[in-house]
Amino acid sequence: MNILVLGSGGREHSLAWAIKQNPKCDRLIVAPGNAGIATMAECADINILDGAAVATFCEENAIDFVVIGPEAPLAAGVGDALAGAGILAFGPSAEAARLEASKSFTKEVCDACKAPTAAWARFTEAGPAKDYIRAQGAPIVVKADGLAAGKGVVVAMTEAEALSAVDEMFAGAFGAAGAEVVIEEFMAGEEASFFVLCDGENVLPVGTAQDHKRVGDGDTGPNTGGMGAYSPAPVLTDEIAAQALEEIVKPTVAEMARRGTPFRGVLYAGLMIENGRARLVEYNVRFGDPECQVLMMRLGGQVLDLLLACAEGRLHEVAANWADDHALTVVMAANGYPGDYAKGTVIGGLDVLPEDSHHMVFHAGTAARDGHIVANGGRVLNVTARGATLSEARNRAYAMVDRIDWPDGFCRRDIGWRALK
Ligand code: AMP
Ligand code: GLY
Repeated sequence: MNILVLGSGGREHSLAWAIKQNPKCDRLIVAPGNAGIATMAECADINILDGAAVATFCEENAIDFVVIGPEAPLAAGVGDALAGAGILAFGPSAEAARLEASKSFTKEVCDACKAPTAAWARFTEAGPAKDYIRAQGAPIVVKADGLAAGKGVVVAMTEAEALSAVDEMFAGAFGAAGAEVVIEEFMAGEEASFFVLCDGENVLPVGTAQDHKRVGDGDTGPNTGGMGAYSPAPVLTDEIAAQALEEIVKPTVAEMARRGTPFRGVLYAGLMIENGRARLVEYNVRFGDPECQVLMMRLGGQVLDLLLACAEGRLHEVAANWADDHALTVVMAANGYPGDYAKGTVIGGLDVLPEDSHHMVFHAGTAARDGHIVANGGRVLNVTARGATLSEARNRAYAMVDRIDWPDGFCRRDIGWRALK
């Protein structure tokens, strides 16, 4: 098969790495890709937000299957354009991708199918939003309704903080995403992520993971896209995963089908776990980044068969085979991230690191220049390892980190602490 992966991050590097191990994969192209991906697949410079351009590229290159990595092309309708052109693709329609693109839409779906989640209300003006906050009290959560690159959420510990978040959002701090504001009950507990393939009707869990959103050790400092992850997440026990599947994911999939907008792709459920029960925090309609990297490390080449079965509506025919193992990834980011950072700094030491089924450095924001790998983004490398235990995976990952020569980059030293404590 000729396979096209859309995206340029560590998520897409790990997807390409796993897909390539499957004997069904003949030709592998990643668009636009990055310097790490370029060492193992062809890279193509196409505008991945332009569905017509992607479909034309597929026709010209006899692509049999497209895997859409990030949310932006999904929200832009690239999945619909490919479906319209008769090209098999993994990833939901733009209508189904609203489960990520609109928080109020997700809340309505949860209400309709009685999936457990935080109580909520939606506002288009500051006055009533503030009255609601004063009536509910703090802690309380204020969210811009639309896509805000993970930044449109304020978990307010005081009423004053919540009120000023409302002002900021209606003043346009998050652009169009903040034209509507959702205010939610604060949920206490521990967060974990649950990844479930859905073919519109059938569901297949493909793993659990825990991310590290804050930039600093001990979960301090500002939020980021994610500074590291590990899988499985022990807090999401088999029992809680089964509850989340039955009470949250399956009812959502059934409700989306009932509305005539079936969800086909990976549903990434962000869960809050308290007293042995999971409630939904949010959905994403794609694999997490860097959570995907640890899932791919554990699943390997079978992923292609699972993604194909998902896209072809025959998930009931396949199973995910798990080794009883653990994977952990450490994100290396450019100094200054998530604030301002420099691009173009040289990264040394990568070529002597092991690359096998237990060790892999997935590239995120990298480029090749004059024979060197240079940083080309905020999150730059995902140093990933697998082990029989989580501490073995962690030790292997940090042993690789310590051999990378990049004075202009940094990482957290405590990835995995919740599970290892
Ligand atoms: P979201 O973009 O909806 O995932 O929110 C970002 C982060 O804010 C989540 O990962 C949680 O850590 C936190 N958060 C969101 N909603 C709630 C809630 N209702 N209660 C507590 N924390 C929340
Ligand atoms: N790591 C969080 C996300 O991909 O949304």
